[in-house]
Amino acid sequence: MQVIRFSDLVAQGQVAGKRVFIRADLNVPQDDAGVITEDTRIRASIPCIEMALKAGAAVMVTSHLGRPTEGEFKPEDSLAPVAKRMGELMGREIAVLANWTDGVTVAPGQLVMLENCRVNKGEKKNNEDLAKKMAALCDIFVHDAFGTAHRAEASTYGIAQFAPVACAGPLLAAEMDAISKALLAPKRPLVAIVAGSKVSTKLTILKSLAANVDQLIVGGGIANTFMLAAGLKIGKSLAEPDLLAEATAVIEAMKARGAAVPIPTDVVTAKTFAADAPATIKAATDVADDDLILDIGPQTAQTLADQLKKAGTIVWNGPVGVFEFAAFENGTKVIAQAIAESDAFSIAGGGDTLAAIAKYGIEKQVGYISTGGGAFLEVLEGKTLPAFEILGKRAAV
Ligand code: 3PG
Repeated sequence: MQVIRFSDLVAQGQVAGKRVFIRADLNVPQDDAGVITEDTRIRASIPCIEMALKAGAAVMVTSHLGRPTEGEFKPEDSLAPVAKRMGELMGREIAVLANWTDGVTVAPGQLVMLENCRVNKGEKKNNEDLAKKMAALCDIFVHDAFGTAHRAEASTYGIAQFAPVACAGPLLAAEMDAISKALLAPKRPLVAIVAGSKVSTKLTILKSLAANVDQLIVGGGIANTFMLAAGLKIGKSLAEPDLLAEATAVIEAMKARGAAVPIPTDVVTAKTFAADAPATIKAATDVADDDLILDIGPQTAQTLADQLKKAGTIVWNGPVGVFEFAAFENGTKVIAQAIAESDAFSIAGGGDTLAAIAKYGIEKQVGYISTGGGAFLEVLEGKTLPAFEILGKRAAV
């Protein structure tokens, strides 16, 4: 999809002296005292802001933080800790403005942060009056919030409809490029890893990928349901027997295309779900009635690793075992290392996946790590995200 890119506007000299409104996703986790516990999204949002400042724009940046009640600002909803952290990273003071929808004073070369946009009444429902007010604040609207690209809210969608110019920031553009490279024009074989506790939460993703990928590796509780569908016993492992028909349909759809869903040949089991539970490696055909499958076995992990090393493109969402427990981390670790060693272009996303990438230190060897949670999942579902849709429309006129 063609969109206007902010970097192109900068290169064409169209940004100097302009009022630039950046919608970032600065929705970072905080502890009970409000201290930011993970700042990836803040770091990822800085290049766009720096780009605008360097180009001589008057810069406004906003984001949502959490899910506050509209019209009822509470101190814990404030972006102040985010502005402080961003200020430290950028080496400048960043003022946070409250009640900003009626007007913002900011000069070229200056940066202000506009308080949590989800506190504005009408934000979630994409109220047209609110969107128009926000659009009136700027000459150029920059959507750089991939994590929020699946939401059509006033500060993400409505403002893009009404701003004089609406474009994609560098983070959003990078996410779009990586997604296109992985899913629209992939180098084959295209291998997807979809893991997680429940088939039900990822059924649409599994169905969508089944029509596109060459190998669909399933893991976690999802793999257990697929093992059941393949006629294997899974003891008391987490599974959704009511979704067996759906799992079978995915297997059949893949088979019909000459593709495959590899079913584990061995597994790691325990009798209880605990970090210190004794782990037993056994053939997938030997799972006892009181067993819990907590990881794929070493033989399966090696087979999958060999396939990943030969892949042209890899899409990774979800660890294949309980990698938080040392005795059950091998499958996820082997897969992570295979992705790191593979020449394939790889894209990864989702909270648990990012935690696994960090644990095995393979950040630099993954082609692209998405900042999106729900947005990344909706891309895998094959949906066109509202952000891409509206920016595409605006580029076309
Ligand atoms: C996220 O954390 O995934 C994004 O910031 C979107 O947040 P939301 O689910 O509250 O819209």
